[in-house]
Amino acid sequence: MDRIRIQGGVPLNGAIPISGAKNAALALMPACLLTGETLRLSNLPHLADITTMANLLGRHGVGMTLNGHAPGGQAGRVLELTAARISDTTAPYDLVRKMRASILVLGPLVARCGEARVSLPGGCAIGTRPVDLHLKALEALGAAIAVEGGYIVARAPAGGLKGAQIVFPSVTVGGTENALMAAVLAGGDTVIANAAREPEVVDLARCLVAMGAEIDGIGSGSLRVRGQPSLHGADYAVLPDRIETGTYAVAAAITRGDVELVDARLDLMEAVARALADCGVRLSETPRGVRVAANGHVGGIDIMTEPYPGFPTDMQAQLMALMATAEGASMITETIFENRFMHVPELVRMGARITVHGASAIVRGVPHLSGAPVMATDLRASVSLILAGLAAEGETMVNRVYHLDRGYERLEEKLGACGARIERIKGEG
Ligand code: EPZ
Repeated sequence: MDRIRIQGGVPLNGAIPISGAKNAALALMPACLLTGETLRLSNLPHLADITTMANLLGRHGVGMTLNGHAPGGQAGRVLELTAARISDTTAPYDLVRKMRASILVLGPLVARCGEARVSLPGGCAIGTRPVDLHLKALEALGAAIAVEGGYIVARAPAGGLKGAQIVFPSVTVGGTENALMAAVLAGGDTVIANAAREPEVVDLARCLVAMGAEIDGIGSGSLRVRGQPSLHGADYAVLPDRIETGTYAVAAAITRGDVELVDARLDLMEAVARALADCGVRLSETPRGVRVAANGHVGGIDIMTEPYPGFPTDMQAQLMALMATAEGASMITETIFENRFMHVPELVRMGARITVHGASAIVRGVPHLSGAPVMATDLRASVSLILAGLAAEGETMVNRVYHLDRGYERLEEKLGACGARIERIKGEG
């Protein structure tokens, strides 16, 4: 397994290109199942999770070509997906267990084919992560749902799914995305109340509209869908990754550097920008993206993770690494997942002063962290250790970096280009 070695203490200066959003691409790709025509996605990031999703769609019979000719020479990779004929409606355990977002084929398969057999994703490092709300939404649309041998077996009524009123008792990004992709081909109108408002959900809704869906209220917590007999192909560019942007903004801040994030969109990350401004890190728009300057004082702040437009849970570990080096104390409360503090013991091994009390962590900033060998556990915890290593005195070795490769494209290249002393050490096997 690969490792990443960092010699910390270098303020980052330069430009970092921001890739297309992983969590948008993982919803946009299964949308191809809703039509027999070609969906062309551009600005696709090059990530392990994208490859896993492509492998899964291939199992369903989706034809794909990568790096076709981008319309208008858009940035990033171009992937053409054509689900002319869906040969298999089963999403097997060996793929779903690798990536929970595989559950996002469920809604489109039931909508297009009238049936689906998708392995239950099972839990992951950050929590049990049930999918009960996804299943209740499909049942509201008329699907019969059973769980057999660890698989969700879903079947639409003979006449297909029927529009319905879906009320989510709590906000779920994936649940909203599955409900949306099922509703666009249902007969009649659907209202999705308490819908997730994340930019990645908005991106999916906009792509579905480009494919011929009728959706009102995009970006709000109440989506209204008028079902269509079929959808057509479309060209769609994946929006920039706001979590990658926030991660590299913290990299600039924690090293007290000055970095331009190219193709970043400040409007997608207002809560993160506000939190960073509160601790003394200035984010400003530039003609190419967003500039992050933190050459002065960085002070502790209190944050609580919330559904969008609140502070994103996917930025919690990264902010904690910054707070570990800030002046003063901070309180970080995680309200979305029940076990998303696994970066804490590893940061403590680097000299951070953090105590966890239930869903909250108290962080007392220290003048400097010390490099150490640390263990990556999940995607965002792993990157928080990289960030701490960039600021720490001495050498940090981050083990099991396959977690990182799921969500960060060419991380060591992007940081190295700004002066970081960082290298990947190829592991055996
Ligand atoms: C998406 O996961 C993201 N993944 C996550 O990013 C992100 O942390 C999360 O949304 C919250 O923003 C992708 O988009 C691929 P949820 P998702 O359904 O859809 C509970 C990353 O690091 N819940 O909004 O799985 C759930 O357990 C990843 O990029 C139910 O109880 O998240 C959690 O506590 C990590 N029942 C809360 O809701 C359900 O049926 C929010 O989950 C569904 C969810």
